[in-house]
Amino acid sequence: MNIVVIGTGYVGLVSGTCFSEMGNKVTCVDIDINKIEKLNQGIIPIYEPGLEAMVLKNVQNQNLFFTTSLENAIETAEIVFIAVGTPMGDDGSADLQYVLSVAKSIGKTMQKRLVVVDKSTVPIGTADKVRATIQAALNNRRETIEFDVVSNPEFLKEGAAINDFMKPDRVVIGAKSDYAIEKMKQLYAPFSMSHERFIVMDVRSAEMTKYAANAMLATKISFMNEIANICERVGADANQVRIGIGSDSRIGYNFIYPGCGYGGSCFPKDVKALKKIASEYNYDAKLITSVEEVNDAQKLVIANKIIKRFGEDLTGKTVGIWGLAFKPGTDDMREAPAIYIIKELVKRGAKIKAYDPKAITEAKEFYLKDVENVQYVNSKYKALENSEAMVLLTEWKEFRSPDFDEIKKLLKIPMIFDGRNQYNIFNLAEKGFEYYQIGK
Ligand SMILES: NC(=O)c1ccc[n+]([C@@H]2O[C@H](COP(=O)([O-])OP(=O)(O)OC[C@H]3O[C@@H](n4cnc5c(N)ncnc54)[C@H](O)[C@@H]3O)[C@@H](O)[C@H]2O)c1
Repeated sequence: MNIVVIGTGYVGLVSGTCFSEMGNKVTCVDIDINKIEKLNQGIIPIYEPGLEAMVLKNVQNQNLFFTTSLENAIETAEIVFIAVGTPMGDDGSADLQYVLSVAKSIGKTMQKRLVVVDKSTVPIGTADKVRATIQAALNNRRETIEFDVVSNPEFLKEGAAINDFMKPDRVVIGAKSDYAIEKMKQLYAPFSMSHERFIVMDVRSAEMTKYAANAMLATKISFMNEIANICERVGADANQVRIGIGSDSRIGYNFIYPGCGYGGSCFPKDVKALKKIASEYNYDAKLITSVEEVNDAQKLVIANKIIKRFGEDLTGKTVGIWGLAFKPGTDDMREAPAIYIIKELVKRGAKIKAYDPKAITEAKEFYLKDVENVQYVNSKYKALENSEAMVLLTEWKEFRSPDFDEIKKLLKIPMIFDGRNQYNIFNLAEKGFEYYQIGK
């Protein structure tokens, strides 16, 4: 099949590459010339395990192309995916300007029947807006061309995106016409050979499914963090409570790890957008509001422990940070707890030495660009040289079982603040460390 994917970010690039891997001819379109030039030179602008090799292979096989020209790409396309960003607007709602601008361009350039697919996470009713925008552009051209607008929310996880896309738990399709459903079934058939993963529903339910899924996962995280905060106050151990409740198959172990809060490009903005959607329909989403409030406070729990230990003024103190990305396996720092924690510590006079296997460029060039007193180092142990304390913020594999003797030797005071509760099994107190974690 001939496919166009508009938006070459985490979702667009991964989806386009995986569709090309199955033998489709895929053209990825982006307005960012720099990004497209890099991709055409074989430089992959994001880090995602397995992506680079798959892109290079499919470019070589002539199944995958990159361009800034939608007009040329759309000529032979049967299906066009919209995978541009839907960032948080000033009022918390999803900003649809990129999606609708793409819809307008599709209406201006399409030449034959198309299935237009919303893959971006969009508020309920967006497919109707996309349809109206394309139709208005066609009317301007005095053209009558049939098209469908389908919702196909994406559930991939950064850090495991290729695997998630190639072996999805489910493919949700919100569509009206049999033609569009059939096209989508054909496209996704190679991704669900072993058992049926295709779930067809109406368009609004598909749009809502994405928000409901992310809100559910964010709720589990905030719920556990709240339990952890109560544990700490009543003298219980959140790590043991986690195992105690996770063993109940109705609850399960996923997404109940106590930590310093969720971040990333999706949960924060999607939780906020869902709250906003509800309020636009005169519903006060109390639980969703609390999930967000708990998370905002949770991001600073580790900073508050450091302040409690050293005092309000951190002048003269150096803190070694392990992990900047919002989770392991990605260079993405959008809404990462590290941003909030580092800013809070620096505001109080602390100096930071930070290490992350993948996210240092993101931190330096964007997220902590204007923050003074942050030094980036190229190994985890270097971050601890002459530092008062070590802080773990992202549970990268290389941080899981470190050399604690080395850590003790390097730190001025053997002290670990563990924002991801990774080290509680190591009996750090017996090894002579002051050890602080979440929920104990
Ligand atoms: N990142 C994730 O893990 C994830 C997972 C599931 C769903 N989503 C959703 O998918 C959507 C995309 O997310 P992302 O993380 O890939 O975004 P991103 O910011 O990484 O990429 C978006 C891309 O769209 C491009 N773009 C913007 N306007 C354009 C236009 N008019 N024409 C062509 N290209 C244009 C940008 O230049 C950018 O390269 C969002 O709605 C997001 O919520 C993201």
